[in-house]
Amino acid sequence: MTVTSTAASLKPTPPQMNGLPVIGNVMEFMKDRTALLQRGYRQFGSIFSIKLGPKPVAVLFGEEAQEAFFAHTDKELRMDKAYGLLRASFGDIAFAAPPETYFAQRHILHAPFKGQMMAGYISIMNEEVQKWLDGLGDSGEIDITNRLIPLIQNVAGHAIMGKEFHDRMGQEFWALYADIGKALDPVLPPNLPLPKFQRRDRAKAKMHEILKPLIAERRASPDQHDDMLQVYATATYKDGRPVEDEVIIGIITALMFAGHETTVGQTAWTILELLRHPAYLAHLYSEVAQVMPYAGKPVDASTLMQLNYVRWAVDETTRLHPSADMIMREADSEIEIGNYRIPAGWLVLLSSTLAQQLPETFRDPERFDPLRFAPDRAEDKQHRFTITGFGGGVHKCAGMNFANNEMAIITAKLFQQYELELLSNDVQITYTEGASRPKNAIVRYRRKPRAAIPVDVMAQAVAAGCPHISGQADQAAATSHN
Ligand code: HEM
Repeated sequence: MTVTSTAASLKPTPPQMNGLPVIGNVMEFMKDRTALLQRGYRQFGSIFSIKLGPKPVAVLFGEEAQEAFFAHTDKELRMDKAYGLLRASFGDIAFAAPPETYFAQRHILHAPFKGQMMAGYISIMNEEVQKWLDGLGDSGEIDITNRLIPLIQNVAGHAIMGKEFHDRMGQEFWALYADIGKALDPVLPPNLPLPKFQRRDRAKAKMHEILKPLIAERRASPDQHDDMLQVYATATYKDGRPVEDEVIIGIITALMFAGHETTVGQTAWTILELLRHPAYLAHLYSEVAQVMPYAGKPVDASTLMQLNYVRWAVDETTRLHPSADMIMREADSEIEIGNYRIPAGWLVLLSSTLAQQLPETFRDPERFDPLRFAPDRAEDKQHRFTITGFGGGVHKCAGMNFANNEMAIITAKLFQQYELELLSNDVQITYTEGASRPKNAIVRYRRKPRAAIPVDVMAQAVAAGCPHISGQADQAAATSHN
């Protein structure tokens, strides 16, 4: 399939699904966008169009269309124009910035996601997850999605802004973020004098007030912290200029947006799908028992690599329940994709939910079957863009490894330390700003008896600086003396 810019073309625009006058397919899209797009796929195949109010939207799937979509991003297909609603919240940064600004900032945006910082993030994840598990107590019932929210906010806040600041200001910060997130409105102009937009502007002003002195402090003593804020505070543009405070604050807010709702949704789905598939879960339980015999001992990067059943379950959730289920662009000039012409001004939509369930690519695609990621099947490796749940090409998710490690650590430690049972049989899907997640998913849990950690293992963990294990050290020492 070729994509070409063209001034005038005889090719038709993609066939259009039936919709209502004026509003087009908006109602069905808001109610259940996956069902709408599935119907379009059945009716027309891999390229068709819908209308969201007056705006025509070309919908694409399939290997060649997905390749074209990512290859032409930031050329004919613009990200910032599709995500214009984010600009009022975050400013001209990352996914909300025009291409020339984005490319000037890209190395800055991605700087804290370089491999060498991951060990520190994994250690934060261990600490926050163990604290969360300890807070669950011996048994109970929880709405798993809601209960994961504070955990994932704590991991993100701790990694982005550092422990001391997050412990002190985290709650206030996430409340301010909530006012910004709630003002993301795909329909209304963002500067109308409405209470929700006024709350957003007050929250942004407050965030600036809190963060500006902190950034100045970080610049003054650059060796004292190893969180993302520190990386941004001391980053420079390619010509050596320091990054403006506004840009840093915009990036921090955008990371809070990009990184937490998505991770909440996919972690919750991973846990739910495992509970719905006891045969697979049995393998995972025994893998975890073998690789991680001691509750409370941190999971490091090499341990994560041994947790195949955990990682495949996390990957299968990205395929079957992508939180960022839609990736959007806007055509800046007219282009051709395959047999169709997409005029300038059209939105272009790639639905990862459908793209990752194409029957020509995946065996039994609607089934939760993590073993499709095992090396002997490797269904995800068929082409470069088989899996699009974390995007692809130049804008591929900067936090993908962060998120995958976090989801694996939560899953591994939860099933290591608890027996769980899914009580709900009517779990639904709900869409928040930019991410989807399960709703009404009630889980019952009971803590497993803990194997005492041998003194030498404990000593290694304490020596490695594990903060949550030290409390158990005295207990282990006492046990060893008995
Ligand atoms: C399960 C969790 C996550 C999912 C499903 C997810 C999904 C995505 C997707 C689909 C994109 C590309 C959007 C597009 O092309 O239109 C993206 C971009 C991005 N994500 Fe994530 N994300 C997750 C977690 C995170 C985390 C934890 C962070 C950071 C803490 C993060 C930071 C970013 C950034 C900065 C970008 C923009 C990259 C660029 O444009 O260069 N994400 N994410």
